[in-house]
Amino acid sequence: MRIVDSLVTGRRRNLEHIPDVDFLEGDLADRTIAEQAVDGMDYVLHQAAIPSVPRSVADPITSHRANLDASLNLLVAARDAGVKRLVYAGSSSVYGNQPTLPKHEDMPPNPLSPYALQKLVAEQYCRMFTGLYGFETVAIRYFNVFGPRQDPGSPYSGVISLFATALLEGRQPIIYGDGEQTRDFTYVANVVDGVLRACEAKDAAGEVINVATGGRISLNELLRVMNGIVGTNLQAIYKEARAGDVKHSQADITKAKTLLGYQPIVSLEEGLRRTLEWCRAESAAAAGR
Ligand code: UD1
Repeated sequence: MRIVDSLVTGRRRNLEHIPDVDFLEGDLADRTIAEQAVDGMDYVLHQAAIPSVPRSVADPITSHRANLDASLNLLVAARDAGVKRLVYAGSSSVYGNQPTLPKHEDMPPNPLSPYALQKLVAEQYCRMFTGLYGFETVAIRYFNVFGPRQDPGSPYSGVISLFATALLEGRQPIIYGDGEQTRDFTYVANVVDGVLRACEAKDAAGEVINVATGGRISLNELLRVMNGIVGTNLQAIYKEARAGDVKHSQADITKAKTLLGYQPIVSLEEGLRRTLEWCRAESAAAAGR
């Protein structure tokens, strides 16, 4: 197994527990890195991106390069290297504020931020590479993935990692807007399962498929549940809603069930418990270092 990362948002340390990794440090927006990345590989699981909606609003050029130039390089390189299939990490953000819930793959996309638009274009490149060149791709639309090793170190980090560190450090977390926005938060093991299934699923090539839990929870409720797990009662500090933010997000996962035989294996509550346990162990280890 080869892993390629520019380490702009990732950490080498996150791979320490995985044996026999052929690690290549580099930027996939550089064509020679993309070519080295796919050389000799059967499958490519394309997770590389600069995430965060507000980060893309603040700096669309940097996120465009990471999310689009790199994706096109990788598609071309993988096609030319004879890779069997490329599975792409798409995003629920492409739906924007579609009023109908849950969101299913046939709905017209409505990106509200550069990040969402970039994720949509790369997904369409994937479909086009299957139609035009016969190169097999599958685009999986992720819905607010969370879990251990998510970096809470930036204001652009995922909300669960930010809430977790705030609660464990006894700080009040920040909520942007009224906290009544909802998300289909998905524990990472579910996404890994969906992606691995997409590598070999028979009728999945050229498709776009939601992989999520299929539920939704408001940020206010999420904070209440997390306070319960940690044993705290910290209230949020409310700030103005973020530009480009989607109001409600919930996946219809029927297509994933049909095409991939996918079922969520870890519930939101269990995922939150595992994540908070990991964060607690991490801060204990950091305090002991
Ligand atoms: C979006 C995508 C998601 C993608 C992610 C990549 C949607 C519905 N989801 O996530 O699929 O993986 O981008 O970055 O578009 N918030 C707070 N306090 C904080 C941080 C965030 O209230 O400290 C709020 C945000 O305003 C937002 C929600 O929490 O309403 C979730 O934010 P975040 O975790 O950054 O993810 P999305 O932008 O929803």
